Amino acid sequence: MKDFDYRIPQERRLTTALPGPVSSALSQRREDAVARALQPGLPGFVVDTDGGVLLDADGNSFIDFASGIAVTSVGGSNPRVAAAVAEAAARCTHTSFMVSPYESYVAVCEKLNELTPGDHAKKSVLLNSGAEAVENAVKIARAYTGKNAVVVFDYGYHGRTNLTMAMTAKNKPYKTGFGPFAPDVYRAPMSYPLRDGLDGAAAARRALTKIEQEVGAENLACLVIEPIQGEGGFIVPAPGFLPALQQWCTDNNVVFVADEIQAGFCRTGDWFACTNEDVVPDLVCTAKAIAGGMPLSAVTGRAEMMDAPVVGGLGGTYGGNPVACAAALAAIDEMETHDLAGRAREMEAIIREVLEPLLELPTVAEVRGRGAMVAVEFTTPDGAPGTQLVADVVAACKAQGILLLSCGLDGNVIRLLPSLVMSEALLREGLGILAEEIAARS
Ligand SMILES: Cc1ncc(COP(=O)(O)O)c(C=O)c1O
Repeated sequence: MKDFDYRIPQERRLTTALPGPVSSALSQRREDAVARALQPGLPGFVVDTDGGVLLDADGNSFIDFASGIAVTSVGGSNPRVAAAVAEAAARCTHTSFMVSPYESYVAVCEKLNELTPGDHAKKSVLLNSGAEAVENAVKIARAYTGKNAVVVFDYGYHGRTNLTMAMTAKNKPYKTGFGPFAPDVYRAPMSYPLRDGLDGAAAARRALTKIEQEVGAENLACLVIEPIQGEGGFIVPAPGFLPALQQWCTDNNVVFVADEIQAGFCRTGDWFACTNEDVVPDLVCTAKAIAGGMPLSAVTGRAEMMDAPVVGGLGGTYGGNPVACAAALAAIDEMETHDLAGRAREMEAIIREVLEPLLELPTVAEVRGRGAMVAVEFTTPDGAPGTQLVADVVAACKAQGILLLSCGLDGNVIRLLPSLVMSEALLREGLGILAEEIAARS
């Protein structure tokens, strides 16, 4: 696998006990000053990042398998993104596109219209966060159909705003104590081959029967689904599931919304995860990797749907900020220039080579995912979710300088989200230690 030029050494290096003294002092300041709900996972305060490493204030260098939750796909300090940000900020930090327009906003929309699946006429709107993109997709679908209900899926995650909390499946920590939630949101069964054993057609039939019985297409504005679920456990639906849902939506005047916020922008080995089964969503929500770490999100979709809301009905003060737009144009160009989708596929081959032999262990239930979005699900010997084992493995890896995230409703899944520019040596080193830690506890 081709590597890149890196500014800081791509190495795992622990120079202090974790956390080191500077990070410990910063942790104390965090505890005093920052709301308790925010509990970072890394035992170190970051001062520099590049490629696949995070450098902390004590000189420790961590292998980063989180990428700021699937954001820094082009690297945490990609030089082209950094230069674009500096250049844009030197000219204007903000104008609000709704008041005083600028070219980069239009250029990002043009790029999104070109890259998202389907060759129909498309338009886009730019926003700040993933949750805001999902909220806007629902607004657009309601304006277009004149209907209210929203269907989401078991295990789904769509954000932390009031509507997206209603759309998110997992109670703790995302929803507990924060209700009441937005009404008219209904949950359908997801295709989860490991647990339901259904093929895509049968899983779609199960979901659509429930939707028809409990909601009714005549009330349903949109169906919102992550083509590969993120927080829910990197659940890859059985082949045929997504196309069947999409067809039903088309047949029933229901807007099919793909939440590609975590899976999009080369992560799964394609520009978008939907492409794998030639699914063409009506609306696509994007965020995270879109702008190399600058806050930007978008809804892109069929022009007639995107134009349904009244003039002034979409937008926001900061959405599509000029610095974030400049970053997005640079990040997308980096993905194209270096074929990061292809690199994600090469990373998948390495990840599978190292992790699939673990399937022989009684605790490893499944290795699943696509591209550089691969996860391992764990069970106990009696078939219960392997939640404690995951917590132990994540902690053991952290103590050795590897940052990993868990996911799944039961917290029994370890997910890998390496930067798509991580060096092969670093990827293999991190995976090797992860595999050892899993084997030692199985
Ligand atoms: C699939 C999906 N949708 C929506 C969101 C919410 O994005 P944000 O945290 O930017 O609001 C996330 C974040 O993890 C996500 O993974």
